[in-house]
Amino acid sequence: MTINNAFDSSRPLRADADRLWMTLMEISTFGETVNKGLDRLTLSAADFEARNYLIGLARERGYGISVDDIGNLFIARTGSDPTLAPILVGSHIDSQPSGGRFDGTYGVIGAFEALRALDDSGVQTLRSIVLADWTNEEGARFSPSMLGSLVFAGHLALEEALGVQDAEGTSVRQALAVWQPDLPDSEYRLADFAAAFELHIEQGPLLEDTETDIGVVTGVQGIRWVDVVVTGKGGHAGTTPHIRRHDALAAASELVLAVDSLPPAVSAELRATAGQLRIHPGSRNSIPGRVTIEIDLRHPEATALDRAINLLSEAAKGVSERRGVKVQINERLRQSPILFDDGTLAHVSSAITSLGLTSTPMASGAGHDAMQLAQHIPTAMVFIPCVDGISHDEAEDIRPEWAINGVNVLLNALVEAANQ
Ligand code: HGY
Ligand code: MN
Ligand code: MN
Repeated sequence: MTINNAFDSSRPLRADADRLWMTLMEISTFGETVNKGLDRLTLSAADFEARNYLIGLARERGYGISVDDIGNLFIARTGSDPTLAPILVGSHIDSQPSGGRFDGTYGVIGAFEALRALDDSGVQTLRSIVLADWTNEEGARFSPSMLGSLVFAGHLALEEALGVQDAEGTSVRQALAVWQPDLPDSEYRLADFAAAFELHIEQGPLLEDTETDIGVVTGVQGIRWVDVVVTGKGGHAGTTPHIRRHDALAAASELVLAVDSLPPAVSAELRATAGQLRIHPGSRNSIPGRVTIEIDLRHPEATALDRAINLLSEAAKGVSERRGVKVQINERLRQSPILFDDGTLAHVSSAITSLGLTSTPMASGAGHDAMQLAQHIPTAMVFIPCVDGISHDEAEDIRPEWAINGVNVLLNALVEAANQ
């Protein structure tokens, strides 16, 4: 195999579409649901199986493999000049509890396929390219989301992150301890990298509706996660007169409707979701004494998110007074809107041109680990369409031709960035 750093951008590299699709289908078997979706919560047995599968593929290729203290997994393809700052490319393989096979996983396997395509074409890049699988991007098991990349970017202390517990009281530390990969500790720090990329499905309808091959992602909207804890009074369902009740679930129900009324009150672009209710004690014949409402708010402007939370606080005050319950609003995630780097996006655009694909600039409605990286190093994202724009649902799907288009764009953008 002749190794060279030269890369002729007039003849773009292409990855192996069949191998990509086969690997995507294989890794989807870990946590696959009967409806061909995915239930692969972070640090679950299925997540560990998927991680070990990826490690096996990387070992076959002789790539460098390491893991950090929050479980972020790194797979490195060494460049010809290891003194140069490497390029980072990553996403996540954890899923929602009733999620899809491609949210996150497509970006990790797609990046891995790009590395394999470099092996096939005998191109050795100047800079090393490091693939990351970030722990707990989804936040479905442990809150907040993007836990692994938050720690890696220095936005969340490791000890605090390791202490976060899931609904059953298991901590990140305890869950992580179950996985015993025989891997060296990662030495990587975010500041070591020259640039970062993330390949992802759009999780919305725009690209498919407009029959556009690629989304050049210019930025991501802001995200707020708040827990609204309603504390009333438990009691016997049969003996407690209505007049004496302080039913936390009845009160919480008013606040769920208050969340639903935020977009018309604040902005049509606001996305307001009460996605989870945790009811205590959670028995039909015991009056709910405490309810936690887990709320997700999104908007391109931080001021709109502030307004939404102010309105929610006013609604909480009214419910508290009327129903004689205590209401507390606890912030779990405050993520400002971010913009990606024009220079890094330029590598994406030149790859799209060389491949003769169609594209459109667009913002991301969904959150991604790239948001944490973009606050410190030049970062860019690439989207492909997904069927009916569906995501965070078992019906999530992509077409093989979309999948290979996105990987070929990432592959050529990585080479250009890694040979700079
Ligand atoms: O919630 C999100 O936006 C991401 O898909 N986890
Ligand atoms: Mn994702
Ligand atoms: Mn997701």
